[in-house]
Amino acid sequence: EPDSNLSITIVGASGDLAKKKIFPALFALFYEDCLPENFTVFGYARSKMTDEELRSMISKTLTCRIDKSENCGDKMDQFLTRCFYHSGQYNSEEHFLELDGKLEEKEAGRLSNRLFYLSIPPNIFVDVVRCASLKASSTTGWTRVIVEKPFGRDFESSGQLTRCLKQYLTEDQIFRIDHYLGKELVENLSVLRFSNLVFEPLWSRNYIRNVQLIFSEDFGTEGRGGYFDNYGIIRDIMQNHLLQILALFAMETPVSLDAEDIRNEKVKVLKSMRPLLLEDMVVGQYKGHSRGGKLYPGYTDDPTVPKNSVTPTFAAAALFINNARWDGVPFLMKAGKALHTKRAEIRVQFRHVPGNLYKRNFGTDLDKATNELVLRVQPDEAVYLKINNKVPGLGMRLDRSDLNLLYSARYPKEIPDAYERLLLDAIEGERRLFIRSDELDAAWTLFTPLLKELEDKKIAPELYPYGSRGPVGAHYLAAKHNVRWGDLS
Ligand code: BG6
Repeated sequence: EPDSNLSITIVGASGDLAKKKIFPALFALFYEDCLPENFTVFGYARSKMTDEELRSMISKTLTCRIDKSENCGDKMDQFLTRCFYHSGQYNSEEHFLELDGKLEEKEAGRLSNRLFYLSIPPNIFVDVVRCASLKASSTTGWTRVIVEKPFGRDFESSGQLTRCLKQYLTEDQIFRIDHYLGKELVENLSVLRFSNLVFEPLWSRNYIRNVQLIFSEDFGTEGRGGYFDNYGIIRDIMQNHLLQILALFAMETPVSLDAEDIRNEKVKVLKSMRPLLLEDMVVGQYKGHSRGGKLYPGYTDDPTVPKNSVTPTFAAAALFINNARWDGVPFLMKAGKALHTKRAEIRVQFRHVPGNLYKRNFGTDLDKATNELVLRVQPDEAVYLKINNKVPGLGMRLDRSDLNLLYSARYPKEIPDAYERLLLDAIEGERRLFIRSDELDAAWTLFTPLLKELEDKKIAPELYPYGSRGPVGAHYLAAKHNVRWGDLS
């Protein structure tokens, strides 16, 4: 309805995620005219704050990524006048009822839809959902709730959380966010595969030798040690961000681009994989290291982390999909904090050309001649393909070069932040990029036994220096499956 109202409430408004990502993403959507004419944004948190104080807090992190002109300042002011604050406890139905009153006032009798974004610690998810759904649901339009991970710590606790949420909400109202699915290059993965004849037929064990999903950050858990120590890198990155990319990469062709069709295929792939074993995994933890006169602290130097913590800050894993398309193809994942670089990428290594006529030009190392397709998710978004090419000249020398599609050169417009796309999708009711509960169950099924074993046996992580390339064990794991990490070769 053109005249309808949209109220967005950010619960946990003073938190880091709200400040750094959610408010700025909403502003960007406003700037691009993607929000309805009548909208309001409410911040909800425990601390006392006036509307003005909220506005001044968020104005510090709003940036004009789209337009650096003066006009942007005006837009920002317009946006800020639509932002309000309500202070309340997270488990108080009464306080949510007060919020409801304020929302109604702004909605002024129009049909109104309400979106709640839970940017809060997991132990209060259920309280907030109970209070919000009982006391502040829309009575005239839809009510939707966006939740952020962690969705539990294992299969059991995640299932329990889902059951609790479903006492108050239907699955259709729950939008489980995995912000990696909102990244431009991750969306592009399906476009590349399904709309290019040069890729689509190659997408199987017949032509693909291995697939690598790599995430690295060049900083540690500074300031987040308390949260992180409860979860570790496997739960923080692998079980969600990397596994989601894997499912998208490997799924069978969906019936259509509809959310249910895509998610059905993703669940099928996840169910075709066997749960990980200890031998499929290498874990590491960074230790302090001094470089260039500066001392970089180790993970357990963080005062919020127990000195004897064995929580992994690095992990590498080999996964296999037991179906006709992928039988025997290793899917390698690697995720780490405090490594030498910040990067996320998807690498596809193809098989050797059978009977390669130019074999001798590659010496003994035919691996140097395999084609490799790389989607660099960040930074410097790019898609490039490593091909063999003749070096110009009278001789016959071959060279592996790149066909390189660098986004900054090809597409001058700035790439939207993942949160912009995901918020817009939630507002429009597009569920394609959100995680369905059966997907979540399947993802936990794969990782839970391994996590339990690591924790029961207190498996000691291999230490690696802050700023290094991570533990050497990751190479042995790859080598065991006849793979070389593409980012290191
Ligand atoms: C989050 C993790 O989900 O993703 C963080 O909890 C991590 O530990 C972050 O730093 C990385 O996201 P991005 O978009 O900065 O690559």
